[in-house]
Amino acid sequence: MSDARHEVDERWILRTELLWAFGVGVFIAAALGMILFTALTISVNPPSNVERIDPKALHLSGEFAEHNLGTTVSGDGTVIVRAIATQFMFVPQCIAVPANRRVTLRFASPDVIHGLLITGTNVNTMVIPGFVAQVHTEFTRTGDLLMPCHEYCGQGHSEMWATVQVLPENRFKPGSDGRISCAQR
Ligand code: CUA
Repeated sequence: MSDARHEVDERWILRTELLWAFGVGVFIAAALGMILFTALTISVNPPSNVERIDPKALHLSGEFAEHNLGTTVSGDGTVIVRAIATQFMFVPQCIAVPANRRVTLRFASPDVIHGLLITGTNVNTMVIPGFVAQVHTEFTRTGDLLMPCHEYCGQGHSEMWATVQVLPENRFKPGSDGRISCAQR
């Protein structure tokens, strides 16, 4: 092969390599951009809330004591849901939430590892004893959603699920204590 021909080949190789590097670079930037965008706008991100809680004293006092479970709306309008995942049920069994408002969900387990998801939303987390699992979301459609346990936790695992009742603004009326339970049907 002559030197001139060789040089042309080299340049052609360099050009295709740069083209591929550019293409892959664009793809990676788009993928990372999408992850960042969905994380900032619709809270699609790993539940990385490293918050410890004593699983043995969970139900005795503090945030996850029985009287404090369920949905609470604070003075500034913040909606927080607190629930316990335990063998083999969620407490409470039905959770009332408003549509089209940011909701913070907090879960804890006193026994084994559970998991949960709420159908059709970004809510999907493990509930590990010793930690609080926290997820932010916004429910866009009213109606009942299923919240099953999705981590095998024992014999009754398949019986472990709760209902999330998404209420329109005019039916989401917390009491004077800021609490609201599912509407009776
Ligand atoms: Cu709890 Cu499976």
